[in-house]
Amino acid sequence: MCGIVGYVGDREAAPILIDGLKRLEYRGYDSAGIAVYNSSSMTVIKSEGKIKVLEDKLGGAYPEGHIGIGHTRWATHGRPSDVNAHPHSDCSKDFIVVHNGIIENFQELKEWLESEGHHFESETDTEVVPHLIEHFYKGDLFEAVRLAVQKLEGSFAIGVISSREPDTLVVARQSSPLIVGLGKGENYIASDIPAILQHTRQVYILKDGEMAKITKNEVKITDFEGNPVSKEIFQVKWDAVAAEKGGYPHFMLKEIHEQPKALRDTMTGRLYPEKGEVKLDDIRITKEELERLRKIFIVACGTAYHAGVVGKYVIEKLTRIPVEVDLASEFRYRNPMVGEDTLVIIISQSGETADTLAALRESKELGARVLAITNVVGSSVSREADDVLYTWAGPEIAVASTKAYSTQLVALNLMALHFGKLLGTISDEEFKEMALAMKKLPEQVKAILDAEGEIKTMAERYADREHLFYIGRGLDYAVAMEGALKLKEISYIHAEAYAAGELKHGTLALITEGVPVISLVTQDHLYEKTLSNIKEVKARDAAVIALANEGDEEIKKSVDHVIYIPRTHQMLTPVLAVVPLQLFAYYAAVARGCDVDKPRNLAKSVTVE
Ligand code: G6P
Repeated sequence: MCGIVGYVGDREAAPILIDGLKRLEYRGYDSAGIAVYNSSSMTVIKSEGKIKVLEDKLGGAYPEGHIGIGHTRWATHGRPSDVNAHPHSDCSKDFIVVHNGIIENFQELKEWLESEGHHFESETDTEVVPHLIEHFYKGDLFEAVRLAVQKLEGSFAIGVISSREPDTLVVARQSSPLIVGLGKGENYIASDIPAILQHTRQVYILKDGEMAKITKNEVKITDFEGNPVSKEIFQVKWDAVAAEKGGYPHFMLKEIHEQPKALRDTMTGRLYPEKGEVKLDDIRITKEELERLRKIFIVACGTAYHAGVVGKYVIEKLTRIPVEVDLASEFRYRNPMVGEDTLVIIISQSGETADTLAALRESKELGARVLAITNVVGSSVSREADDVLYTWAGPEIAVASTKAYSTQLVALNLMALHFGKLLGTISDEEFKEMALAMKKLPEQVKAILDAEGEIKTMAERYADREHLFYIGRGLDYAVAMEGALKLKEISYIHAEAYAAGELKHGTLALITEGVPVISLVTQDHLYEKTLSNIKEVKARDAAVIALANEGDEEIKKSVDHVIYIPRTHQMLTPVLAVVPLQLFAYYAAVARGCDVDKPRNLAKSVTVE
């Protein structure tokens, strides 16, 4: 995920910036850069790749100057490259900007600025910001930034310096974290505490809609209207390791909690319920090409495969094109019936999984069109596919995938809506209903996370078991598979997911007194059927935990415990239902003393067969 660090004071800025960026390395990034100003010139040095590459570029001679900003980039708009790396500047090269987040309306701003004579160099959304500041600058940097941010839609944390006002750092925040670190005769900015923790523990945490003018001796905070904001100093008590995890004990828990933002980001600038529009810029497949498709294959590994199982239901329902889901390691060796009339959707968080990549190549060889859903811009999968749909989850560090899965689900829904719209297989009303429901998902996930204590208690109660079952039908079965995988991966409890109707064909033999069965009952049209299966396991004295829709009082009569999720569109329940299952696995693993972020025998990215 992108990182920001900045400094103003009497010390040399460059070493502080480079050190700060290194302390953000654990978050993952693909390029880095710094800008430093001294009394006569602004030096901007940036580079694709690791900070080491940037340091090599500096050749041991850091630019001199007492004010500067630095950035590590995790590409969203525009592939990783020297030109797309931050900081970015305007035409005059006087206004220098680093940015985290996504500027939703950058395209229209860019077109307007170009018509005003501005010239752009990069493919990024960020570059509109320095040009806007240049446009508004009338002798007051803070005021120019204030007017610029009022034009921005989307999420942003920005840091700005300028040779026109060389002792001032200006920052602004909207839906992307930003802090101001306080020193003596010096001040700092950062997107994350670890970047500046070795210098200060006193920080201002900016809220959405706030900005600050920072000199070495003063910090002035206002809202975007320019009204002063008074703020208490936050005393950081975390050590460096806890700070990297944002105060959470594990990356996995941090990433589970990042889901509302990740989901929102993945929909940013793409979904417009009222206009009936989905904009997916890197998907170029046309209506005619879609009409020629005989079949869609979804191919992936692990958690991404489970997202694909959900995708099958959604795509078939909204496009009426048959979908087959396959494990990449199986697909590539079974001479798949793929040709020019086939679309192959490849899902991969990392975009580098060896089996998935091989399946992609095999599909292309056979003449299929390949669409990739991935989280990493510039990854092998993204480079080799014909069409790409990025999840904007930010880097995932914990081995067990969480926010990548939920954003893959949202991406699949966006894609299915887009295809359904092109093909005319969904009505305007259906589109709007689903799109509006999607927009609500981030806050609904937040509501589940706010009540995590209850799931923790439940997980601790069953953490000593050696076997656990997950059952459900339809989309609930698809989510059950991911729930079981999460539990296996990190707690080492043997967990199996079963299509509820299949229990009686074998698995019921394993249900004995006290065996926990997590039963998903979010699908209204399958409710009665699943309820009968719950009764079957209850009759064998299983301990049943139901995962049900809010308002379902009936279910209480048939089970031992109920976990509720907020009501959403029936096609979207997996995005909510998976969250309690992730938390259940996490807290069970913690209770068993497992190494949650690095489970035994597993790797985050499997680049060998
Ligand atoms: C590994 C990881 C899983 C992941 C799978 C596929 O097994 O441990 O969490 O789901 O690879 O990875 P990908 O990056 O292709 O989604």
